[in-house]
Amino acid sequence: MNDNDPTTTRSRELPPLSRFLAESTWAARRGDRDIMDFMLASPQEMPLPGVTAALKYWSDPLTKDWFGYKGSEEPARELSARTLHERTGVPFKPDDIAMTNGAFGALALAFRLIGQPGAEVIVNTPAWSFYEPLLLAAGLTPVKAPVDATTLDIDVAGVLAAVGAATRAVIINSPNNPTGRIYTTATLRRLANAIGEAARCNGRPIYIVSDEVFARLTFDGARPSSPAEVYANTLVVYSWGKQLMAPGQRIGYLALHPEMPDLEALRDALFAAQLAGGFNVPSALMQHALPDLDPLTIDLEHLQRKRDRLVSTLGSIGYDVRSPEGAVYLLPRAPIADDMTFAGLLADRDLFVLPGSLFDYPGHFRLSLTASDDMIERSLPHFEAALRETGADQAAIAS
Ligand SMILES: Cc1ncc(COP(=O)(O)O)c(C=O)c1O
Repeated sequence: MNDNDPTTTRSRELPPLSRFLAESTWAARRGDRDIMDFMLASPQEMPLPGVTAALKYWSDPLTKDWFGYKGSEEPARELSARTLHERTGVPFKPDDIAMTNGAFGALALAFRLIGQPGAEVIVNTPAWSFYEPLLLAAGLTPVKAPVDATTLDIDVAGVLAAVGAATRAVIINSPNNPTGRIYTTATLRRLANAIGEAARCNGRPIYIVSDEVFARLTFDGARPSSPAEVYANTLVVYSWGKQLMAPGQRIGYLALHPEMPDLEALRDALFAAQLAGGFNVPSALMQHALPDLDPLTIDLEHLQRKRDRLVSTLGSIGYDVRSPEGAVYLLPRAPIADDMTFAGLLADRDLFVLPGSLFDYPGHFRLSLTASDDMIERSLPHFEAALRETGADQAAIAS
């Protein structure tokens, strides 16, 4: 390999998950009708008709600058502030909202806003794999704090132990990818009190960056709390990508808490940071269409039926798997400690899952519930056969 070759240098810089995806057999088989694809939360079924209708309707221009450069447009900001207010009870203001290129864009913007070279950000693990590369790109250092191994809840004492003089923020993601856990208001309050106290000792703020991309994707009617309800130094991240299961049509936002002490300074820095982030603003079309898109959500009852089918059948086969409260994933324990090898055994059966080692949760694997019913039904005998193939003692797995 030539070290001066910019192509090879770039590919070596891919985050581990992207590299795994690019190099795994899944990359070659993706979209093949025969495979059972549980790898990512990507659409496996036709888009919601309402999404198609809204995009068609709003692509017909009403003014000359319909497709002109857009910033965070007022109607989109107003809708975001209103819906966030309705969901959290916190009176977010349109002026304190930046419309972004989905949640990726909102996170990149948040990290750019609060970033200082050498600053640290605490990530509760297991976590979405892209926090780390986004933090590193902003010059921030990720510090990992594992969740409670039994409850998968935030380990407040563990977070506190990870706080140091350089701590700038804690990322909270509820409902959580990959655990499916929804943190209670009481847990969030304990965390808020602990880091509020640590910030006072440090003499500077510790923010919560609250990634709420799954806020509307919950089971059994659960209504997640937001850290914004208990902690003023919160920046809320949202995206419509999951709610609409149309993640390629990008729109999301970053919202600053109305009672945040540094509100004015951060608000004033928003647009400059969006520009410096490569015009991190959603397309004109997505902003026009937002009022028609926002009321739409994928079929949650169907998602719940898929969750229940997989949880109960995998459980009866002998997998140790808990039922998620929200988001779109299951996180079973692998029957052998080496989750990469186990994912390979499943891949040999055309069944693709994400090994836990890629997101700081070795010994487990993640399934996306966006797989179709047909894929789920076809996968069940393979999950059973793969478990048998490992020779693992099923009682031991479940214990
Ligand atoms: C927890 C979490 N945050 C952020 C994102 C990024 O969302 P988007 O693609 O809508 O920007 C994802 C995508 O899977 C996610 O799971």
